[in-house]
This record gives sequence, C-alpha cells and structure tokens, in this order.
Amino acid sequence: MTNDMTGRICLITGASSGIGKETALGLAQLGATVVMHGNHPVRSQAALDYVRSTSGNPNIDLIQADLSQKSGIQHLADTFKANYSRLDVLLNNAGMLRTSYQTTLDGLEYTFALNHLAYFMLTHLLLDVLKASAPARIINISSDAHTGGKFDPANLQSERGYNPLNAYSNSKLFNLLFTYELARRLQGTSVTVNALHPGFVASRFGKGNPGLRGSLVGSFMTLVRPIAISEKRGAETSIYLASSPAVANVTGMYFYRKQITKSSPKSYDAEAAQQLWDISAKLIGIA
Ligand SMILES: NC(=O)c1ccc[n+]([C@@H]2O[C@H](COP(=O)([O-])OP(=O)(O)OC[C@H]3O[C@@H](n4cnc5c(N)ncnc54)[C@H](OP(=O)(O)O)[C@@H]3O)[C@@H](O)[C@H]2O)c1
Repeated sequence: MTNDMTGRICLITGASSGIGKETALGLAQLGATVVMHGNHPVRSQAALDYVRSTSGNPNIDLIQADLSQKSGIQHLADTFKANYSRLDVLLNNAGMLRTSYQTTLDGLEYTFALNHLAYFMLTHLLLDVLKASAPARIINISSDAHTGGKFDPANLQSERGYNPLNAYSNSKLFNLLFTYELARRLQGTSVTVNALHPGFVASRFGKGNPGLRGSLVGSFMTLVRPIAISEKRGAETSIYLASSPAVANVTGMYFYRKQITKSSPKSYDAEAAQQLWDISAKLIGIA
C-alpha cells in the first residue's frame, strides 16, 4: 500500500498559510495535482511559489477567493470546475477566530460564515464532481475547541452577544455536526467525509486579526505559543486522511494524530445536525 497521489486532484482551502500550506506541500510531494486556495493575494502567490519550488511538482495551481462571501465560494467552485473535470480530495481548511463581532457582505456573522457556511456551501457546489470522481474524500478541519461549542438555533450567529471563543468553538462544533450528517447522507456513494483536530499549531492563526493584540485571547495565545507544534506537524493528519489507503473506506470519523478519536457527546447529536443542515441549506438557497 503506497500513498502515491499521482493523477489525483486535491483542492485545499486556506492553503496560503499555516496548516493548509503545509498540507499542499505534503500532497504535492506525494505527486498530487494540488489546487491551492487563498484569500490574501501576496500570501497566496508566495505560498504557490513555495509549494512549487519546494516540491518540484509543476502541477500546482492557485485560485483566490474570499470565502466569507457566498459569491467568493461560488467563484472558487466555478473556477475549479472550469479548469478540472475531476476532484479526488476536498480539504475544507480555511478558518479564523475573530476578536470582535463583524458581519459579511451577505449580512452573516463572520465566524459562522467563514468557518461553517463556507465548508457547507463549497462541499455542496462540488459534490457532483466528487461523486463522479468516486472514490473521493472530503476532509473538514475542525478543532478540539469544539468541546466548548454549543448548538443553539436561536444563537447560531451570536445573536445574544459576541464572545470570540464561543463563536469559534461553536463553528468548530458545526464542522463536526456537518461531517457526521454528510457521512450519513453519502452512504453508498464511495465519497467519504472525515474531520480532524490538527493539534495546537504555531501558525498565523489569529495574527491577522485586528484587535487580537492586547486582548485576553491574544495574551493567552502568546502564552501558550511555545508549546505549539510546527505547521508541518499540524498538517500530518490532513495529509494522512487525504492520501493513506488505510482510510480509503473510513467515513464519519474524527481524527487526531492520524488516529480515530471520540469527539464531544454534543457533536453526535443527530437531531442538531439535521437542524443545522436545514438552516444552512436555507441560507445558501438550496432548501
Ligand atoms: N492553529 C491551530 O492551533 C489550530 C487548531 C485547531 C484547528 N485549527 C484550524 O485549522 C485551520 C487552518 O488554520 P491555521 O492554523 O493554518 O491558520 P492560518 O495560518 O491563519 O491560515 C488560515 C487560512 O484561512 C484563510 N482565510 C482566512 N480568512 C479567509 C477568508 N475570508 N476567505 C478565504 N480564506 C480565508 C487564510 O487565507 P489568507 O492568508 O490568504 O487570508 C489562510 O490561508 C482552521 O480551520 C483552524 O480553525 C487550527
């Protein structure tokens, strides 16, 4: 059993930085055609150059899009489909923590829009090509921060007041509810979907966030940064789930350090997952 990815096409969101960038490099080194997504133009171009030159693999592409907006998600899916006829691995990885309440151009709370709805909508837009390319894999980057999250339909977008850690934890819980519900819906299709916690990673995470410096969350992150693992190590489980034959038929699971692990009891609430699905589908206009 080898992890050779030659001929496979992988799309990674948030590949302009951190875990996503190192995941792109790892998959490029295994021979995959890697379509990197980034938002910031300079970081995106630098990441593309880094992955191409470090891997020596010429089959690396870049699509830029702001995934906090539905039009950006649509642009990413449309551009991908215009250039590629198959998709073997979709990695939903782009995410951030916002220190203050902000709404997107669509009028949605930012953390909810980027960390959850972008995963949901991009996956939906690409599901036809994933199914046609089966066996195919979807990987959702969640976090152990989900343990502090809550599914409250009346407070999905911080309607009752904004707390950055709560908003982030909720969004990472939603990643798991989405993963498990999608796995149920994809039974019998040979498209698998799994989620993972990358570990505590010394990435840019939070750094580009206005207001983080001097805030409680910022001070905490600075304090614990010395114990964080490298971006390369943070990418290991993503690369494993994207490429290992050992997990070809595994679906609906949560991974940490390449091992199946249990997520919080709340994340297995099938009724909450169904409700979140319905709300999300309405928000993207497919229900
Ligand atoms: N770092 C950790 O300790 C940790 C722990 C658990 C889970 N995670 C998860 O791991 C994932 C990657 O995080 P990371 O640590 O690698 O952070 P990072 O270095 O900050 O990378 C975040 C990525 O998300 C992209 N992004 C941010 N806002 C965007 C927007 N509006 N539209 C499109 N893309 C956007 C960034 O693009 P640009 O740079 O181009 O703006 C960047 O590529 C996230 O889902 C995070 O929740 C991280």
